Amino acid sequence: MAVRYELIKTCKQSGARLGKLHTPHGTIDTPVFMPVGTQATVKSMSPEEVKELGAQIILSNTYHLFLRPGHELVQQAGGLHSFMNWDRAILTDSGGFQVFSLSENRKITEEGVQFRSHLNGDKLFISPEKAMEIQNALGSDIMMAFDECPPYPAEYEYIKASTERTSRWAERCLKSHNRPEDQALFGIVQGGMHEELRRQSAADLTSLDFPGYAIGGLSVGEPKDIMFRVLDFTVPFLPQHKPRYLMGVGSPDALLEGAIRGIDMFDCVLPTRIARNGTVMTSQGRLVIRNAKYMNDFTPLDPNCDCYTCKNYTRAYIRHLHKADEIFGVRLTTYHNLYFLVQLMKRVRQAIMEDRLLDFRDEFFDQYGLHDN
Ligand code: GUN
Ligand code: ZN
Repeated sequence: MAVRYELIKTCKQSGARLGKLHTPHGTIDTPVFMPVGTQATVKSMSPEEVKELGAQIILSNTYHLFLRPGHELVQQAGGLHSFMNWDRAILTDSGGFQVFSLSENRKITEEGVQFRSHLNGDKLFISPEKAMEIQNALGSDIMMAFDECPPYPAEYEYIKASTERTSRWAERCLKSHNRPEDQALFGIVQGGMHEELRRQSAADLTSLDFPGYAIGGLSVGEPKDIMFRVLDFTVPFLPQHKPRYLMGVGSPDALLEGAIRGIDMFDCVLPTRIARNGTVMTSQGRLVIRNAKYMNDFTPLDPNCDCYTCKNYTRAYIRHLHKADEIFGVRLTTYHNLYFLVQLMKRVRQAIMEDRLLDFRDEFFDQYGLHDN
């Protein structure tokens, strides 16, 4: 068994779980936020920095690495850990999501998805077996089953057919996975916003006995209250003793509401993406550093943060770097945003330990504000 989930305790105020996920590249304290390193790099950060800011696991993408530089090349390098010089855990997404959001002329059949590369237009094909071959070559600690993430909104009949196909694909993934000793394969529950479809999807996948389960098909444009409602009815379909991963979610409110509902793992490009256009998350809410009001502001990004950026640099300086399009500005805001979410999850784990996660959420949002990011 490549990974083992250890449930330490459940919060008495909520469904939140404190746990440890043991992997071949170290132990992860859960609930956890995973920074995204799509192209074998967390944009603008060195692996040493990502480690220093406290990340225990990062996410990377099958789709991108298949297109460039190619999984065979990564395998020649000794796998993704050695290729990118990251010795902690890596989770790879299967490509099931990116192939739908990035590529052109995609055509989905029972066999898999045919599509054109968003880089050069090459005609390519990913099947469940191909997604396993690529992820086996990358050597991630956690691989994801090849799924379809249906758009929102979509016709009930389409979502039903797609969800059933995702279950059949999950079984094919399991059958063609050839490194179960050192790579864990997680199943992905789909089913759109429909309780019946989520129930069926979870039943199909749990019967295959994956070492962990993701909830996919959320944060696809639906209102937040609908996402939380879907979590309310979906999480109870998942086994207690396996990790639960909510895919593509990383705003502070969704991390808190997800943890409260029993989610253990999250990933999102949000902190790194908004950092590149100069938006930072602080204990008082979001702040846009390019704003003129920070021109003479010689305080840190967040007075309550003790990250490298906040210990050493001012808003005025970081604003200047962003206005001047200097790379270092992006590095400073990226470091801070990742640190902020890693720190938030530490506080979430402490609150679960103390059986007070609902109180912590309310205290956090008194400061952060209730706007939905
Ligand atoms: N990332 C965000 N949502 C999804 C999803 O539904 N499936 C996969 N594979 N990745 C995702
Ligand atoms: Zn900071």
